[in-house]
Formats: sequence, structure tokens, C-alpha cells
Amino acid sequence: MGGQENGMDFFEVTRSRLSYRGRFLDQPVPREDLIKIVQAGLDAPSGKNMQTTEFMVVDNREIIKEIQAMPEGNKAMTGGKAYILCLVDKEKEASYEGMNFQLEDCAAAVENMLLALTALGYAGVWIDGWLHVQKRGEILAKIVGAPSNKMIQVVIPLGIPAKELSTIPRVPKKSMEERVTFI
Ligand SMILES: Cc1cc2nc3c(=O)[nH]c(=O)nc-3n(C[C@H](O)[C@H](O)[C@H](O)COP(=O)(O)O)c2cc1C
Repeated sequence: MGGQENGMDFFEVTRSRLSYRGRFLDQPVPREDLIKIVQAGLDAPSGKNMQTTEFMVVDNREIIKEIQAMPEGNKAMTGGKAYILCLVDKEKEASYEGMNFQLEDCAAAVENMLLALTALGYAGVWIDGWLHVQKRGEILAKIVGAPSNKMIQVVIPLGIPAKELSTIPRVPKKSMEERVTFI
């Protein structure tokens, strides 16, 4: 179990989750917790129930060191005590009426995992944009030995946050009035 053994209710979890780019305690993430977190990813909905997202979970210290030595690692990427990688196909075949839902499938899995890790007392961040510039995704794929037909769409570095999440200022969110219409 991570930083806290918390019986957070679901809405506390959704309100506690934030993109954590700070320092983690120097403690590994136990495999049993990684399994719970990635199970939440597997449980996510997916277009046509194709379950297209695949996952690589990195808790090997040597591989973690290699990830952290990637060029221009940002603060979020260099501190993780474990990393969850979400892989999608490079060539995305249509699964329904000419559409494919690989990115949506992946996003649903990522959010489920972020909520799960928050509920377990960990913190992490959705790394996506950073990965898709300067061939970082390819560099990471080489480090972890990802299958050649897959690309790493999202990485979640995680660990026990050195700072209590409730003390971290949250980024402002637009109000309900600005974004929601009840009709
Ligand atoms: C599609 C997507 C891509 C993202 N890519 C990155 C990224 O590359 N690096 C990063 O530090 N945060 C990334 N984030 C996290 C966002 O910056 C963050 O969710 C946003 O600023 C809102 O903050 P919050 O997560 O604390 O609510 C990404 C989030 C999403 C949903």
C-alpha cells in the first residue's frame, strides 16, 4: 500500500487526483499494488470491447535507471519509482464503421489507473505530449523492448509522493457553468 491506507470514497479519489511532478519517497511500489493499478486499466471500457491497449509495467531498478537517464528527462519522468507504459498499435485498423478507438481505449485505461493509484496513496502523472517529441517514444520503446508493431502512447511514472497531495495547489479548473449545459 502506498503513502496512506485510505478508505477514500470514489469522489474523494476523483477530486484528489492531480498530475504529480514532484519528488517521491525512496520506496519501491510493491508488485501487488502495481497489479491492482493495472487491473483497473484492464477493467476500463473500450470501443467494440476490442481492449486494444497493452501495458508494460516497469519495476526493475536497472530499467528504471535507464528510463531516468533518457535525454531531457523532465521532472516528472526522472523520479518515478515504477512506470506503467500504455501501448497502442502503430498501424491502427478500423474496428467499427471505418473508425478505430485505440486512443480512446488507452485514455480510458490511463484515467482508471490514475484513479486507482490515487486511491492506493500513490501519485503519478499522464505523460503523453512529452513522449511524442524528439523521438522519446522510440527511445523508451528500445529501453523496454516494446514490440515493433506497437508505440508507447502514454507513460505513468508513479510513487509515494513526498508531499501530501492535499497540500499541493491544484491547477484551476473551469467552472461547471462554463463547461456544462443542462437542458
Ligand atoms: C492527453 C494528455 C497529455 C498529457 N501530457 C502530459 C505530458 O506530456 N507531460 C506532463 O507533465 N503532463 C501531461 N499531462 C497532464 C496535464 O498537464 C494535466 O492533466 C493538466 O495540466 C491538468 O492538471 P491535473 O492533472 O493536475 O488536473 C497530459 C494530460 C493529458 C490528458
